[in-house]
Amino acid sequence: MVSDTFAKLSERAALCAEKLKQAKKVHLVSHIDADGISSAAIMNLSFERAGIPYTAEFVKKLDERVMVRLLEENHEMLVFTDLGSAMVDFIVDNRMSAVIADHHQPNGRPENIAADSATFPYHINPHLFGANGGFEISGSGVSYILACEIGGKETDNTDLAGLAIVGAIGDMQNRKYGKLAGLNREILEQGAQAGVIKYAPDLSLFGKQTRPIFKILQFSSEPYLPGLTGDEEACIRFLQTAGAGYDQRDGAKLWIELSMDEKRIIISALMKFCDERGFSSRRTQELIRECYTLLNEKEGTEMRDASEFSTLLNATGRYDKAETGVRVCMGDRDDALSAARTLLSEHRKNLVNGLNFVRENGVTQLKNIQYFYSGEEIKETIVGIIAGMASSLENVDRKKPIIGMADSEDGIKISSRGTQDLIRRGMNLSKAMNDVTEAVGGAGGGHDIAAGGTIPPEKADEFIVLLDEYIGRQLNQ
Ligand code: C5P
Ligand code: C5P
Ligand code: ZN
Repeated sequence: MVSDTFAKLSERAALCAEKLKQAKKVHLVSHIDADGISSAAIMNLSFERAGIPYTAEFVKKLDERVMVRLLEENHEMLVFTDLGSAMVDFIVDNRMSAVIADHHQPNGRPENIAADSATFPYHINPHLFGANGGFEISGSGVSYILACEIGGKETDNTDLAGLAIVGAIGDMQNRKYGKLAGLNREILEQGAQAGVIKYAPDLSLFGKQTRPIFKILQFSSEPYLPGLTGDEEACIRFLQTAGAGYDQRDGAKLWIELSMDEKRIIISALMKFCDERGFSSRRTQELIRECYTLLNEKEGTEMRDASEFSTLLNATGRYDKAETGVRVCMGDRDDALSAARTLLSEHRKNLVNGLNFVRENGVTQLKNIQYFYSGEEIKETIVGIIAGMASSLENVDRKKPIIGMADSEDGIKISSRGTQDLIRRGMNLSKAMNDVTEAVGGAGGGHDIAAGGTIPPEKADEFIVLLDEYIGRQLNQ
């Protein structure tokens, strides 16, 4: 039994699947992040299994320029995954043949984006049915629902649930409740049933499959562990004192190599460490979280852990190499995987450098928001990740949304990140980004908790002032 919302999405997806099966060829357009890459892999696999010929491409964002190009290319059938819901008017106005599987806040004329739209019924999006695409389902979850309908009675595509979960984790959809909820939970159950995924509470820190434990601690940014994060020797000493995870003779072990007892020893030591430093119990509890294991993947590889897998994918797509990520998702464990691993080590360095940039240059505090401008120091495709990670820095105020800005080809890229607390107080970054970027001649959108956009460079100062006022109004309502 699935929930009502899941059933409604499936119903929409069934309609889309029919349309796709009639096409001689489809062209897929997806987003460059982990969720977009997982979405594309899910679709590609479902096309291959159904014998539907396809081509695919990735874009950083879907704006009018891209839409005009796609229109000129005259595709028989387009499929948009993890983006598209802001372009429904364009699709309708230009009579394009398209299917959208997205989870971003839709944007367009009411008749085009209504749940029962007659002008464009090929739109699968949780927001149409009252679900929140910020945490209940990701682009790859919506793609999974479509893939299951493409499979129909003939092909069971529930084995693709693992990739759907990787996309959801890439979008941090487990943040709100410390585990996947809503539609994501239903997909998770289907994946567990299909035997491809397992979920259980475990250490939340990143790198359990592939990194020695002292490295896990050394690179921990969520939570940031003062005295350990960034200090290799201190991390080794910490493990030696605790009496697990670091052996004088064998050196460091991986997390997955530890016995249950050893894991318990390290977790207790970490909890004690956090208590002694006056961490709130909420932050201390963040050390343990539901974790997701892809059972068909080899132990000790990135792909085994949904979180590590999603970072591996981000390391490809955000550097113009999304195809490499897709190939890994689709099973390439040779060239694509080794290329992805090389990209991953660069990506890690860029994240550390980016975070250091924000630490050193600080953030500017306004009444309702705080922001940093990184020029070309931070790549526009990762400024959002850095803005998200920055909340762990001491000079960042958890009570205000943070705005990161970086130079890009067509203006200044904006990335904003908020908290559940701010949402409860009325903040909606998607609406804010949409309205305020538009007010200065740019464009943007996203989710209530995280949104982005691009603005003309000369409008940066004005934008920041307007955004500060706009968020102020949201919080005061
Ligand atoms: O484009 P897309 O929907 O795929 O990305 C969602 C973004 O929202 C991700 O960058 C993710 O890091 C961010 N997010 C967040 N905090 C949350 C949930 C999502 O920063 N609680
Ligand atoms: O780019 P960034 O990671 O900051 O994006 C945060 C969220 O806003 C993502 O879900 C992204 O897809 C969305 N976004 C958007 N339109 C833009 C830029 C970002 O919908 N122009
Ligand atoms: Zn997404």
